[in-house]
Amino acid sequence: QPLKKYNTFGIAVKAKHFCEINSIADLKTVLSMDGYPEKFILSGGSNMLLTSDLDCLVLHINLKGIEIVSEEDNQVIIKVMAGENWHQMVLWTLDKNYGGLENMSLIPGNTGTAPIQNIGAYGVELKDTFVSCEALNTTTLEIETFDKQACEFGYRDSYFKNEGKDKYIIVSVNFRLTTKNHILNTSYGAIASELKKKGIDHPTIKDISKAVVAIRQSKLPDPKLLGNSGSFFKNPVVGKAAFEHFSKAHPEAPYYTVSETEYKIPAGWLIEQCGYKGKRFGDAGVHKDQALVLVNYDSATGQEVLDLAHRIIASVKEKFGITILPEVNVV
Ligand code: EPU
Repeated sequence: QPLKKYNTFGIAVKAKHFCEINSIADLKTVLSMDGYPEKFILSGGSNMLLTSDLDCLVLHINLKGIEIVSEEDNQVIIKVMAGENWHQMVLWTLDKNYGGLENMSLIPGNTGTAPIQNIGAYGVELKDTFVSCEALNTTTLEIETFDKQACEFGYRDSYFKNEGKDKYIIVSVNFRLTTKNHILNTSYGAIASELKKKGIDHPTIKDISKAVVAIRQSKLPDPKLLGNSGSFFKNPVVGKAAFEHFSKAHPEAPYYTVSETEYKIPAGWLIEQCGYKGKRFGDAGVHKDQALVLVNYDSATGQEVLDLAHRIIASVKEKFGITILPEVNVV
């Protein structure tokens, strides 16, 4: 089975065996089958770089459905099945005037993989509206519920990326959203200036979503037109001493204060300073408007993209003494 259309990087690798999963019962049946020792879970394929053919059984999670679990006062809890496209789901919530996900509009991928890396954008992270998720334990084949604490969310991080890796398949996610008195987050400078540009003083959640969509479209390539996986790297978090050393040498560099002792430096800025922004090596390249995003112009192999990533990592390390790490899963 060709996998090019199943990964947003558009890498043309093949799966030896492929199975689309449309129900939890399907999933249990397939996982209890003998003869295919290795299984690989593929959902939206938006946060992975495939570097070779997959000599195993690829399970494409296509579980669908959104339902309202409960509604009281000014809150609603919704349950979203893992295979629902994230942005389509966000649009569904906005259509019902449910607030909380508007800042995370237009993030590629499916809902079931969103908790794995605690997706986030423009001042909001998945964990802010997350209530719980249900995941199938791949050994016992039982469904287990994980509340927010059990998920151990961090910056682009969770239990499912660490101890829980390869042990669970998330099948649904519950979110708590507001039905009135929405709490808007316009702390991110780009949102405020986009609203100002449009002359909007009292934004609705839909206005915020539209502003986010405009910002993303101006900076981030559409995976349907140009293969990519969003931010390829995480923004490095450095300690106080390292940060002071860095900012003395580069007072113009942007940064975010994480805590009293930790600072986050935009990897995009570091990569741009190393001269990689807009550079192309064969069909692999660095996006022209956002250096944090690696792109596949058409027929780059996963290995070519990975080689470029390693070159960038080495270059940033040499120039700044800072190690940047991939955010995407390299398979
Ligand atoms: N910058 C540069 N050059 C670049 C890119 C960025 O100088 O090529 C500078 C910008 O000028 C700005 C700073 O770096 O001062 C931060 O840039 P931006 O606001 O674009 O955000 P980011 O830190 O590069 C993160 C997330 C994005 C998310 C945005 C907005 C990570 C790894 N990435 O990017 O998430 O959309 O903030 O909240 O944290 C993703 O994870 O796939 C993703 C796109």
